[in-house]
Amino acid sequence: MRQIPADNVPDSTLSLLFDGYEFISKKCQKYQSDVFETRLMLKKTICMLGQEACQVFYNNDLFQREGATPGRIQRTLFGQGGVQGMDGTAHRWRKQMFMSMMTPESIKQLSDLVADQWDASIRKWEIMDSVVLFEEIKEILCRAVCTWAGVPLAESEVKQRTDELSAMIDSPGAAGLRHWRGRIARQRAEEWAGDLIELVRFRNLEAPAESAINIIAWHRDLENELLDRQIAAVELLNVLRPTVAAARYVIFTAMALHRYPEYGQRIRKEKSYDEFFVQEVRRYYPFFPFVAARVKKEFEWKGYFFPTGRRVILDLYGTNRDARLWESPDEFRPDRFEMREENAFDLIPQGGGDFYENHRCPGEWITMEIMKVALRFFTENMEYYVPEQDLSMDLTRVPAIPESRFVIEGVHRKNPA
Ligand code: HEM
Repeated sequence: MRQIPADNVPDSTLSLLFDGYEFISKKCQKYQSDVFETRLMLKKTICMLGQEACQVFYNNDLFQREGATPGRIQRTLFGQGGVQGMDGTAHRWRKQMFMSMMTPESIKQLSDLVADQWDASIRKWEIMDSVVLFEEIKEILCRAVCTWAGVPLAESEVKQRTDELSAMIDSPGAAGLRHWRGRIARQRAEEWAGDLIELVRFRNLEAPAESAINIIAWHRDLENELLDRQIAAVELLNVLRPTVAAARYVIFTAMALHRYPEYGQRIRKEKSYDEFFVQEVRRYYPFFPFVAARVKKEFEWKGYFFPTGRRVILDLYGTNRDARLWESPDEFRPDRFEMREENAFDLIPQGGGDFYENHRCPGEWITMEIMKVALRFFTENMEYYVPEQDLSMDLTRVPAIPESRFVIEGVHRKNPA
């Protein structure tokens, strides 16, 4: 059996902080290998990259999620008892609950709500000197997803809930204040979401049958029991939080259009070019750097031994920029998607594998539809200009965001629907 290339340092946590999104790919390059072993937070961890690694990582016979997520991520991003840490039949059953929300009609409803909110915001932006788009889009998405999910949101609450949902996304990779903001936000948001679930269960809040809050409040587990209040709260937040997270992709969409304005014309003219464009934005820009699992039962892969219980992380960012899968991976080229064959293991910004069987993100279609609404506004329904600003992105800040949060000025409504 071959020895997995090992990092000759006692612990690589500092190097992870230093290299951020590029941590795994740089080391893989150094060791000329898709896999290497190191210690992160003092724990032995195998890091992997590439399509073949992704294929093996999403094999449910070899990997499990229980016990894989570090506490700091549970206390901010994920919460406890949610779908992310489940395995086997129980996971499949819970996952089905999320997938039942993702019908084409339901996704269309959400993207229409986003468009309505965006339309209303333009009126406000028209009289503002300058607009920090990231802050505005988070609020648009928070309002839209709450309405869609059957969650009442008083005007006076919008800012607080938007801030809490965003703080959970912003905090897992941070230290100090940014991290603690995320922990406090999670505690408050779980309390809020738990109260809402109880209101539905006690019939004090009427929610449409197909709304997310109703589906989660009345979901029964494999023992035919309703979910615990706290777990139901975590799952409701698993719908609200990541939809607000899509604000980052909206900003990346705006950045890509700003940097490569030649695509605006093609998006306006060619039907389905918007699809290629948003796919390339998801491939090219950084969001979650990697996902973690544990070896369920020892196995051998490419001659390497994977012992039971070992933590393994798969590089999402590095796989999306792997030169063996993507020609000139560091160039932004939406055309590459024109001839692409469907593949569940190469374009993995939101995880890979099967939506129902694996932990792949159930919100991928929602995310892409939100990005397409944004593209329509950027290219057809509003005029704006992008003043001089610092659009650089620090790849050691996870999740990444441009320094200026993308400022626009001179907003005008164009071609109202
Ligand atoms: C900004 C856009 C988004 C990004 C970058 C993103 C990314 C991801 C990633 C990387 C995973 C983990 C995959 C894995 O563990 O193998 C995931 C899982 C998940 N996502 Fe998303 N996501 C986004 C939007 C959404 C939306 C809009 C929803 C719901 C409406 C959603 C709900 C979930 C849930 C519930 C899971 C856990 C699935 C499971 O464990 O089976 N996400 N997402």
